Amino acid sequence: MNESITQQIDELREQCIRCDRCALSQTRNNVVFGEGNPESPLMIVGEGPGATEDATGHPFVGRAGKLLDEALAANRMSRKHVWIGNVVKCRACIIENGRTRNRPPTIEEVSTCTPWLEKQIEIIKPLVILALGAPSSKFIIKKDLRMTKERGIIYPTKYAHCAIAALHPAYILRQAGKEYDGGKSLLIADIDAARREVIRIKKESHDPRLSGDSADLVPSG
Ligand code: URA
Repeated sequence: MNESITQQIDELREQCIRCDRCALSQTRNNVVFGEGNPESPLMIVGEGPGATEDATGHPFVGRAGKLLDEALAANRMSRKHVWIGNVVKCRACIIENGRTRNRPPTIEEVSTCTPWLEKQIEIIKPLVILALGAPSSKFIIKKDLRMTKERGIIYPTKYAHCAIAALHPAYILRQAGKEYDGGKSLLIADIDAARREVIRIKKESHDPRLSGDSADLVPSG
């Protein structure tokens, strides 16, 4: 493990879990900072925590997380091969008829929170970012990205060598039958595309920093 990256991430986590820059800090149970391998060349970015993530402080641990784990496993990968973060770090929710429901974060909440993600990216320096769902893809790739037409495409991004938009596992879970199976296959394929892109960039790069131990973090077979 690179001490300096781990130390920088730990320091950032300490600052982030005390964040009170927006009103979501009033209702959250936990800040979901992000986790995984901070030396990974592949970062996965979701939208924001739901109920289970808010309760535990860990990203993608609910049903959507199980599906993400399955899609990683289909590529012979696990959480130790990637860093998983989110556009916003605290749960956005509303109470309706006495029930708490997730809601999309507002533009202000996103712009207040994303400096935390940007700092994570600065420290981890991923080669490839896989953006899950529209809010993440619009932030990482381009504001007017359309998931239906543009997922799976390798885009340039200022945050890494490139980024790929993929269907959000929570969206796939809302589909049934063939639609579900199709969505899951696309997620598996987009993780594979991101993994291959990491391998291609490393192979083609003459930068000695890209040929160290972290070359093994994304399975090549
Ligand atoms: N959905 C997300 O976008 N992120 C999580 O961490 C969990 C569910």
